[in-house]
Parts: sequence; C-alpha cells; structure tokens
Amino acid sequence: MSQGDAADRVVMRVLAGQAQKRPPAWMMRQAGRYLPEYREVRAKAGSFLDLCYNPDFATEVTLQPIRRFGFEASILFSDILVIPDALGQNVRFVEGEGPRLDPLAGRPEFARLREAGDPAIFSHLAPVFETVRRLRAELPNETTLLGFCGAPWTVASYMIGGRGTPDLAPSRALARHDTALVTELIDRLVTVQTEYLVRQLEAGADAVQIFESHAGSLPDAWGADENVPPEEAGRDALTRWSLDPIARMIAGVRARVPNAKIIVFARGSGLDGHARVVPETGADAVGVDWSVDLAALRATVPATTVTQGNVHPDTLIAGGAALDAAVDGVLAATEGLPHIFNLGHGITPQTPIAHVERMLARLRG
Ligand code: CP3
Repeated sequence: MSQGDAADRVVMRVLAGQAQKRPPAWMMRQAGRYLPEYREVRAKAGSFLDLCYNPDFATEVTLQPIRRFGFEASILFSDILVIPDALGQNVRFVEGEGPRLDPLAGRPEFARLREAGDPAIFSHLAPVFETVRRLRAELPNETTLLGFCGAPWTVASYMIGGRGTPDLAPSRALARHDTALVTELIDRLVTVQTEYLVRQLEAGADAVQIFESHAGSLPDAWGADENVPPEEAGRDALTRWSLDPIARMIAGVRARVPNAKIIVFARGSGLDGHARVVPETGADAVGVDWSVDLAALRATVPATTVTQGNVHPDTLIAGGAALDAAVDGVLAATEGLPHIFNLGHGITPQTPIAHVERMLARLRG
C-alpha cells in the first residue's frame, strides 16, 4: 500500500475531508473509445476481456487519459463483470451491444458458480492485481490510483438478467420469487468482492469506488407483492438490496485495511438515496449522478460530506457555453466544501476530446 505518499495526493486529501480551492478531477470511463489511442490498443488486444486481463494493455490504457489530460485520479482499467467471469459464469462483450452473460435463472445455475472460498477465483483475477501494482509504480506520485468493483445489486442484476435490461425486470422478479436465492447471491458477491477490494488496496490502489449503477431500478418499498416473504414485507428496498450489502462490504474492507477510503456511486437513487449513502454505508464519499441537483444535495447533507460529480455526459458532448455553465455550477455548489469533480455517469464514445480539454481549462481557471 502506498499510504506513506497519500498526503501528496490531492484526491486523497479531499477524501479525508479537506476542501480544495479547485476540486481535483477525473472522469468515469476516462479510458475509453473517445480516445484514438484507446481504440488502437483495444483493436490489438482482441476481446474486451482480453484487454482487462492483459496487464501490459490494461496498464497502457489506464495511463492514456492521465498523460493526455493530467487528471488527479486514475481508475484501474477493468470491468465490474470480471467478477461473474471469475465465478465461472460465461461473460462476453458483444460489439455495439454491450455485455452478455448466460442468465442465472435459478438454483441450477447458481449451483454451478464457484464457492466464495474457491482459490480459482483469485488466480483468475491475478492479472488485475498485477495491473494495479504496475500502475502504482508508473503513475506520477501525486496521482491517486482508484480501484473499483460493482455493488452487489448491480452485479447480481447483470448475472440474473444476462444483460443490462432497462428496468432490470428479471432480477426484481427473481428477488420476489426466490428471495433466498438472490440473498445468497448477494452474500456471495459481498464476500468475494470484499476480498477483491482488499487485494486491490494491498496491490497499491489508494482508494476504491463501488459502482451501484442500477440503484434506480429498486422500488421504494419492498413487499407490495404476494410473493414476498412476510418478514421482508415493508423493508426499504434501497437499504435491503443496495445500501446494506455495500455497508457490509465497506465494514469488511475496513476490518482488513482500517483506513481504506471508499467512494460509492449510487446512480438513480435520487436526492434522498444519495443523501443516505454516506450515513447508511459508512462510505467516505458519495458519487453523484447527473440527475441530482448538486446544490440541493449539498444543502441536504452535512458540510463535511465528500461529494463527487456530476456534469451530464451529454453536456460534455454539447460543449460551448452549456459546458462552461455546468462547470461553473459544480464549482458554485461545492465552494469551500470537499468535492471531487467528475461526470454524473461515464463519458461516451462520441465525446470530442477538445470538450474535455475545455472543461478542464475552465475548472482549473
Ligand atoms: O472508468 C474507467 O475508465 C475504468 C474502466 C471501467 C469500465 N467499465 C470500462 C469499460 C469501469 C469502472 C467500468 C464499470 C462498469 N462496467 C459499470 C459501472 C459504471 C457504469 O457505467 O454505470 C457497468 C454497469 C459496467 C458494465 C459494462 N461494461 C457495460 C454496460 C458496458 C457496455 C457499455 C459500453 O460503453 O459499451 C461495458 C463495456 C466497457 N467497460 C467499455 C469500457 C471502456 C466499452 C467497451 C469497449 O471498449 O469495447
């Protein structure tokens, strides 16, 4: 771990609660198809998963946006779906369509997954830890290195549905129909991914982010359905399926790495959901999606809360005065408060590089 140098890293200072005059910046999906140098390596690597598991290529694409833009944080290049892959579920990425998994429809498929303690899981993931070690050695000292994983509910949703269905109907249906099975799946993901984050931190990640990209698919209340077991009825769905499993992962990571810094991105959970992330999970920061009014959120949470976000990726595509206004809006909403500048979801392939440069020039003043 590189804790000794953490004081030099501005993102780590913000995660410790110290507001900066200008917030440090990085972008979700900052290594990606909007960069020609990424597309070049991607074409050489073969499949998307081959890119994730090749430390030479994965290190190279992680460093590309740091070289080009000098972001204050670098995020490991990988994917949240390496975990189902390591558990033995078939995962592939279809060009132009996104991820496809053999859906986990019920008990028989669950029984075929690797058990949490199976050492094959972490030998499968060894290249990821090698990439983290190389990155920490190669990054500028002042650049924070972020590891990551998906939140259990988001990963389970892909495992059950086999893809990112818009409303996650398959996972919600299975959670109602066989609550015990989905609970077991979530518990396995909590156990395996706690270990996964610990190993990323041990390999040199300074902090980690947990991506709950599908919090928005959860209903407000859990139990307005005859299939829901009585002891579950009325439980708050966001807590039950999202925030509680995340809280258990965070507690598990801190039991092994006491000062681990952890960001939780809870996309689609609304103003109220975002406000609950830090108190309910124990995270050090909440990643804010673009749909939330950042000023309203800052007015709701304590001034000590660390936020991250939340320029709309479409505003970055638009550029010009709209982009300038969005940057100014984030600065105004977070002045004097601990904040990390970011987008409110991942950058998209059609984004002009010049707009990223414009955004950073405006931010850096
Ligand atoms: O942010 C980064 O630069 C780090 C790398 C990273 C990727 N995916 C690379 C990637 C991270 C942190 C992720 C997280 C991830 N993956 C999430 C959570 C964040 C979010 O976007 O909500 C999710 C839901 C996934 C699953 C996933 N992977 C999807 C839905 C897709 C297809 C969408 C798309 O843009 O094509 C992927 C593929 C993927 N993961 C790409 C990249 C750069 C594009 C694939 C390619 O280059 O061919």
